[in-house]
Amino acid sequence: MDIVHSLIELRKVIAGERRQGHTVGFVPTMGNLHEGHLTLIDAARKASDLVVCSVFVNPLQFGENEDFDAYPRTLEEDSRLLEARGCHILFAPTVADVYPGGMQNETRVHVPGLTKHHCGASREGHFDGVTTVVSKLFNMVQPDIAVFGEKDYQQLTVIRKMAKDLCFPINIIGVTTSREDNGLARSSRNNYLSLVEKQEAVLIYQALQKSKVALEKGGSDFASLRNNAINLLEQNGFIVDYFNFASAETLEPANENEIDIVIMAAAHLGSTRLIDNICVTCRR
Ligand code: PAF
Repeated sequence: MDIVHSLIELRKVIAGERRQGHTVGFVPTMGNLHEGHLTLIDAARKASDLVVCSVFVNPLQFGENEDFDAYPRTLEEDSRLLEARGCHILFAPTVADVYPGGMQNETRVHVPGLTKHHCGASREGHFDGVTTVVSKLFNMVQPDIAVFGEKDYQQLTVIRKMAKDLCFPINIIGVTTSREDNGLARSSRNNYLSLVEKQEAVLIYQALQKSKVALEKGGSDFASLRNNAINLLEQNGFIVDYFNFASAETLEPANENEIDIVIMAAAHLGSTRLIDNICVTCRR
């Protein structure tokens, strides 16, 4: 595996591969990799000849009081994991490489509508940071396909729309959320949890599952399902940011005739903010 830091070098390596007729798959990450990220690498390998993974902790998508400084930087371990999983190029640019004009002065990419609710409502500017950096990375790597996890369902939906609206000739592939045996969604932020908190964190998944079963049985009283889930979580020490039932396509609040619903949750456990979601196809 090649480890590439500069854009010039990245373009040179990729151009060489393209001359040999190889297709390019891309997995953007912020590093601190775990099995969930590695399933994205597997998907990229299946769909392309050359797999590029970026590791870049993007300051533009963190709010002022968020964990940008604390976010674990583990490039050596990340590189070991990527190499073992068959990734071909690790691209690890600096902030100055990605934002040469200064982060505050450069063009931003904003996706309206889909970014209004859920994490968009509680993390102001977060999705503009994500879509701006992903656009830049898409232009740097110029992949044929790019892979994202369904764990960040809103992010995946926003990126699909951005790619369509801005005519990026890139096929966006979503990969099923990777979970621990007990159902906890794998996330770099799980590393912040104590051992006890890690056991408790699975309650988010259990609350989502309960709501899913209720919808599958024909339930559509979203308000009471939401209250039950929030009570369960709050009784167990969570501070709930949101527990929402939305259209899986538009991310607008679900109505009672909705067939494809995504249930999305975000909650703080101690100082860690966790998110998860589950999709349900309802029989109406
Ligand atoms: O999901 C992430 O890790 C980040 O939001 C991404 C897509 C790499 C952009 O920084």
